Amino acid sequence: MADLAALLARASDLSRVVSRFRREGKRILVVTHIDADGLSSGSLAFHSIARSGAIVSVRAIPDLDMRAIESLRADRFDLYVFTDLGSGLLPELQKAFGENFLVVDHHQLPPEDAARPNVLNAWGFGFDGGAEASSSTMAYMLAMAVDEKNRDLSSLAIVGALGDRQDVGEGRSLVGLNKKPLQDAIEEGLVEVSKDFLFHGRETRPVHEAIAMTYTPFIPGLSGAKDSSLAALSGAGLSLKDRGRWRNLAELSTGEKQKLMEVLAAHIGSRGGDAAVVSELVGEVYSFPLEDSLTPLHDGREFATLLNACGRMDATDVGIALCLGDRDRALTIAMKLIVEYRGKLNKAIQTLQTGDKVSVHGNVTVVIGDDFIEERMTGSISSLLASSDKYKDKMVLVRTRSGESELKFSSRLGDEFAKEVNLGLILKEAAESVGGVGGGHSMAAGAKIPATKKEEFTAVVVERVSG
Ligand code: C5P
Repeated sequence: MADLAALLARASDLSRVVSRFRREGKRILVVTHIDADGLSSGSLAFHSIARSGAIVSVRAIPDLDMRAIESLRADRFDLYVFTDLGSGLLPELQKAFGENFLVVDHHQLPPEDAARPNVLNAWGFGFDGGAEASSSTMAYMLAMAVDEKNRDLSSLAIVGALGDRQDVGEGRSLVGLNKKPLQDAIEEGLVEVSKDFLFHGRETRPVHEAIAMTYTPFIPGLSGAKDSSLAALSGAGLSLKDRGRWRNLAELSTGEKQKLMEVLAAHIGSRGGDAAVVSELVGEVYSFPLEDSLTPLHDGREFATLLNACGRMDATDVGIALCLGDRDRALTIAMKLIVEYRGKLNKAIQTLQTGDKVSVHGNVTVVIGDDFIEERMTGSISSLLASSDKYKDKMVLVRTRSGESELKFSSRLGDEFAKEVNLGLILKEAAESVGGVGGGHSMAAGAKIPATKKEEFTAVVVERVSG
């Protein structure tokens, strides 16, 4: 049973710790993850703590492991606030930082760890952290405990939840605790909710480009393929231009939208795919009316994709600047990065289609990207593959090199995976059994292990998922 009162009480306890460090003039560091939910939750925590008058910095890291903990400790901050990471390493954090750390998170953790007084984790209060509470929503709960004027940061929590694909309610809506910041943002006039196509660039791109720019769900032959998309739509008689100017999706009439659905369903069906995928292309749209409608920041999902691109392209500072309100240089840089990011994704997907990089073992699709997938891109590639028609009934496990002696794994369950498995738990246990670290959610998890243990680790994962 969800216990919101207990969660609010814990958020207040954590905010009192922050206040104490502020009063004493101590230095605080917010440490967060590089994906969209990581950047928005870290920014939410940072912004609310900075506003309270404390001395605070923020840093985003791709993984929390012993090496990262040691390096953070060496920087000698007085208080460490971890967002979107930390739940799997609480004993280690305690050893390194004593009482001087807080964890605000939504990754699964043992109940005894959730009960720790310095941990604000959705699971500890009966909320499903994989579906009902993003890390950003948890950080928003802390921000509201610090000061209710932080209600104006509520839209950022929506971005984080969408970035972690927590739009799992009917018609791709947000559910559970994520509705708290959503409700606040609606009341503040910061978000408008409507029903429409979910393509990226809905309001900013020509229709065929918006379709080509959408990777989740992956539409074979159209995702990443602007020309094919144009050919498919004009071939079906859709009017894509108005007096020489390209029209966007938001400008199509209801009848034209219906026609577009039919064209897409026929296209997917003709390539042997499941035409029902088109229903995933329509749903609740979260728009931010105060943002410029000509930018991706106007749409919650596109904002999240922009943040993800910043994180995956090693520009977490740009992502954080966007979250903190920079609409000038940060936005210009981010718009360039997202083009490069899409190019990289496309290139990796093309390379995957050649040679022997992909193999299927039971229910698991293993991708060996050692030579061509950058470490920071593994999560994007595994998400993309798991949403594709080809692998949606599989678990996808993407591997690449991490430094000289380690391997990074990123795993996702396809939406139609038939068995009940918890990837977070499986990757944690498999990684620890070979001297590595792993963890995450039931549908998405990651691990880092010594390179020499790759066969052993993969065999354990395949056995646990398929056996
Ligand atoms: O790295 P990747 O994007 O595949 O991670 C998927 C999810 O698993 C993320 O939410 C990440 O924070 C989490 N994770 C974790 N512990 C790890 C690696 C990943 O909790 N060691």
